[in-house]
Amino acid sequence: MPPSDLFSAQPSSHATLEDLFAEMRQMKDDPLANAGTNVVISRGNPQAKLLIVGEAPGPEENVKGKPFVGRAGQLLDKILEAAEFNPETDVFITNSVFRLPPGDDGKSFRKPTDKEIEYYRPYVLEIIRLVDPRIILLTGNVACQSILGKTGITSLHGQWSQMQGRWVMPIYHPSYLLRNPSREPGSPKAQMWDDIREVRKKFDELS
Ligand code: URA
Repeated sequence: MPPSDLFSAQPSSHATLEDLFAEMRQMKDDPLANAGTNVVISRGNPQAKLLIVGEAPGPEENVKGKPFVGRAGQLLDKILEAAEFNPETDVFITNSVFRLPPGDDGKSFRKPTDKEIEYYRPYVLEIIRLVDPRIILLTGNVACQSILGKTGITSLHGQWSQMQGRWVMPIYHPSYLLRNPSREPGSPKAQMWDDIREVRKKFDELS
């Protein structure tokens, strides 16, 4: 795990999500504060028992101010709906990093750095504490790095672990599925379908 001084920006405990979000919208010391991008925090139902952690906002999310509203988000919604989850009422969706990491040319974007992931991590954990979900899905390696402190999504996906009484499962990031559209048995898309069915089963067991 990273050295504790990386957590210097750790938010104190908040009474409500609104209090936390108000603080996050004022973040000035985060590594992307001068990137000219917006703070993009969440969408969905804060009372939901299923919480999804993504990577970072992309350009569309940066403009609209909500996570997963571009192509990857549309696919994520389809996957959730295929397992009979309503993305707006059954799920709360957030990210590991809350501002778009811009590319060198100021137009494109890049993956978040370790430093960025570590900076925002206490905020992700505080969101999880306040939403209090029973199940957390980590989409892709950045979310696994943030919450589990490890990567390796091709072997981690579909595996349950427990964290402070919550069930946690890594799943493929929908952007990865967009780049790998095959539905052949054993393909990432076929594996995603198996994983989301497991999530449905666990959700029903816990309800
Ligand atoms: N990808 C993510 O991980 N999060 C978003 O909000 C959008 C795309």
